[in-house]
Amino acid sequence: MTALIPLCTLDEIPEGSSRGFVQGDLKLLVVKQQDKIVVYRNACPHLGIPLEWVEHQFLDSSGTMIQCANHGALFVIDSGKCVAGPCAGRKLEAIPFRIDGNQLSIIRS
Ligand code: FES
Repeated sequence: MTALIPLCTLDEIPEGSSRGFVQGDLKLLVVKQQDKIVVYRNACPHLGIPLEWVEHQFLDSSGTMIQCANHGALFVIDSGKCVAGPCAGRKLEAIPFRIDGNQLSIIRS
């Protein structure tokens, strides 16, 4: 059975920014860029730990890549693929989601 779990409204994530969420035992990160949304599990493929040191800060200083604060791994926002750092070639785990109007929800099975 799949469940739709509401996360937030799209208005709550400013364009070009990221946000972290905790849903039960699931830690998530969401990025909104050019009105596109991506949702990943907040676990770095390097050590399996959360990426951020500062709450809601998942982007590098240029705002064009997701960055792990622990050892600096860089991930392509669209694909979650690590292109630099200790886990290069691995990917963040994409979390299925749905957008209904202004509501962002994740899909859990
Ligand atoms: S834990 Fe993310 S780069 Fe090491």
